[in-house]
Amino acid sequence: MPDAADLSALDTASIDVTLSGAEPRRYPIVTRAGLIGRLGDECRRLGVLGKKVLVLTDTNLQNRYLGPVQARLQQAGFEVTSLVLEAGEASKSLSQAQAVYQTLIQQGFTRKDTLLGLGGGVIGDLSGFCASTYHRGMTLIHVPTTLVAQVDSAIGGKTAVNLGQIKNMVGTFYQPKAVFADTETLNSLPPREFMAGMAEVIKYGLIETACDGQTGFFEWLETHADDLKAVLPAMIHRCAAIKAAVVMADELETKGLRFFLNLGHTFGHAYETLSEYGILHGEAVAIGMRLAVRLSVQEGLMAAPLLQRLDALYERVGLASVIETAPHFHPKEVLAVMKHDKKNQDGGIKLILPYQAVGQVVVRDDIPDAAILSVLTS
Ligand SMILES: NC(=O)c1ccc[n+]([C@@H]2O[C@H](COP(=O)([O-])OP(=O)(O)OC[C@H]3O[C@@H](n4cnc5c(N)ncnc54)[C@H](O)[C@@H]3O)[C@@H](O)[C@H]2O)c1
Ligand SMILES: [Zn+2]
Repeated sequence: MPDAADLSALDTASIDVTLSGAEPRRYPIVTRAGLIGRLGDECRRLGVLGKKVLVLTDTNLQNRYLGPVQARLQQAGFEVTSLVLEAGEASKSLSQAQAVYQTLIQQGFTRKDTLLGLGGGVIGDLSGFCASTYHRGMTLIHVPTTLVAQVDSAIGGKTAVNLGQIKNMVGTFYQPKAVFADTETLNSLPPREFMAGMAEVIKYGLIETACDGQTGFFEWLETHADDLKAVLPAMIHRCAAIKAAVVMADELETKGLRFFLNLGHTFGHAYETLSEYGILHGEAVAIGMRLAVRLSVQEGLMAAPLLQRLDALYERVGLASVIETAPHFHPKEVLAVMKHDKKNQDGGIKLILPYQAVGQVVVRDDIPDAAILSVLTS
């Protein structure tokens, strides 16, 4: 790994993730417009990637970014192979993992060689899973291309595949050697996918202080909401920094800190499940986060203006339509699904709720069903 001086030379918008444990690890998350154009050099600078690189990507990215990524890596002296999977959640499967392993074996990849995931969270989770298990762990690089992946899924080391309908049933914790987020790739992202990612971005504004002690990101988003494209690298960089801070403090989700990242997710998962994944994850989070804020206001944990500010922000980034067109389910049905959330312990629904000031949260598992039903009903 590069030393501290190299990391700061890498890019001004680089976060240095350091993790303790039996084998201390350290890697950069770089966020920058046009980064793919420098990808080969950035990878070379990391120093420990072996000779071969398998680029794993999907059919929506193949024509746009695979060529430039391959070319940059080849120019830097790597032997590059690619594997293109069908775009969509169905590719996050054991059968596609097997296809990846087979390619790695056929091409003679060793654990020192690199698997590079070029895509959204589906490609990222699958490449992480394969890299962590092939030869018990090979080098992994993430090149996230969705807003969700750049602010969330590429950071933190959670990998997974789905088992049939059961999402993320099999997975590992495995950190990459680097995350290279080229914000220009978001120009081709469908607007609906971008908006879904904005729900996770706004979430960081509501959990910021709890995560790294800082304040002001929610207000910063309020300032820039009408021209997000102009501030994308800074916005994504801040989200990545918040998530990285949580991951550094609670890598394996044993200390409760990572739970803060679930604001809006307990409500959201219920909507995702009941809609049979007919809405995007981020859309479900937008719905869930608004319900969490309403519950917090109703329970006197947070002053009412936060709800108006959230609604105003949703309106400006396009998420208001998600709330307006949110699917309707019977409140008792939603509650029943929430009770089955795997994060619950001892029967109570474990919720993370905004608390006292924007950026602060509290974890509660004692909110009465009637109070939850009340926000689901009105
Ligand atoms: N590991 C984690 O911590 C974590 C966190 C959040 C989500 N996830 C996982 O991430 C997945 C969702 O990720 P996602 O929202 O990125 O979905 P995705 O990977 O399916 O990407 C969404 C769609 O956008 C397309 N796409 C990607 N980049 C594009 C680009 N630049 N231009 C045009 N099209 C592009 C994809 O082909 C796909 O059709 C889920 O499987 C979820 O479980 C994991
Ligand atoms: Zn999420």
